[in-house]
Amino acid sequence: MTDPHPARTGIILVAAGRGERLGAELPKALVHLAARTLIDHALSTIVSLPWSGDLVVVAPEAWRGAIHHQAHQTHGFASVTDGWRITVVAGGVERHESVRLGLAAMGDDIDTVLVHDAARPLTPDTVFTEVRDAVHRHRCGVVPALPVADTLKSVAADGTIEHTIDRGSLIAVQTPQGFPRALLERAHAEPEQRAPHSPVPVTDDAELVQRVGGVVRTVPGSMRAHKVTTPDDLKLLEALAVSTGSGTKASA
Ligand code: CTP
Ligand code: MG
Repeated sequence: MTDPHPARTGIILVAAGRGERLGAELPKALVHLAARTLIDHALSTIVSLPWSGDLVVVAPEAWRGAIHHQAHQTHGFASVTDGWRITVVAGGVERHESVRLGLAAMGDDIDTVLVHDAARPLTPDTVFTEVRDAVHRHRCGVVPALPVADTLKSVAADGTIEHTIDRGSLIAVQTPQGFPRALLERAHAEPEQRAPHSPVPVTDDAELVQRVGGVVRTVPGSMRAHKVTTPDDLKLLEALAVSTGSGTKASA
């Protein structure tokens, strides 16, 4: 007999950042890449996944209404499952606050949560599904990761190189990052109190989960999940989108 209340997966799409390093007039999620906004690229990928659950979009306060409209329009236009339950909430000052606010808006039946940066607009749908499946299989945190290709060096404040870092065990991690919901909630309960003297800034959810002793595994990431941080990243992804024909038409 099938479970009448199967556990479901939720996605928190964090889009509330200011995009200071990009330096655009609008918040980063509202900036265009190949005829669509960054957030529209991410929304289109999510609603065309072959599975569905809760989608909580965390938006800049002033853009909540516009993003709510865009999310529902994209859902109506591109959804293949009909099942996404969409909520749009306002974000916080720091990324981890935005994630916490998104988590609070998840429905009670959600037991697995993926957190994704709207700033990674071309992330393939296969990465979302691989992360979700790996969380279900291992019941731990899962992040997409790529090996580091460049030679890495530690550098002093005056710009002189101190030493070369062995990159053998280093990886670059991306999003979506997936977690059993209870583990992610525990990690976000009091992030400021966890390892308050750690020299490592909290820039992803895996770091908070690690701080509460949670296990985090990796699955293969994708070059297409590259994050837009500076104007050069936008140009790089623009070239990638055009060369592969993704997202070159506006969805509405
Ligand atoms: N984010 C968020 N709320 C914040 C800060 C960041 O939702 N208070 C989101 C961003 O919208 C982005 C993702 O987290 O999708 C990754 O953050 P980052 O690349 O640092 O984006 P910004 O914070 O917008 O950029 P910057 O740090 O240059 O201001
Ligand atoms: Mg930031």
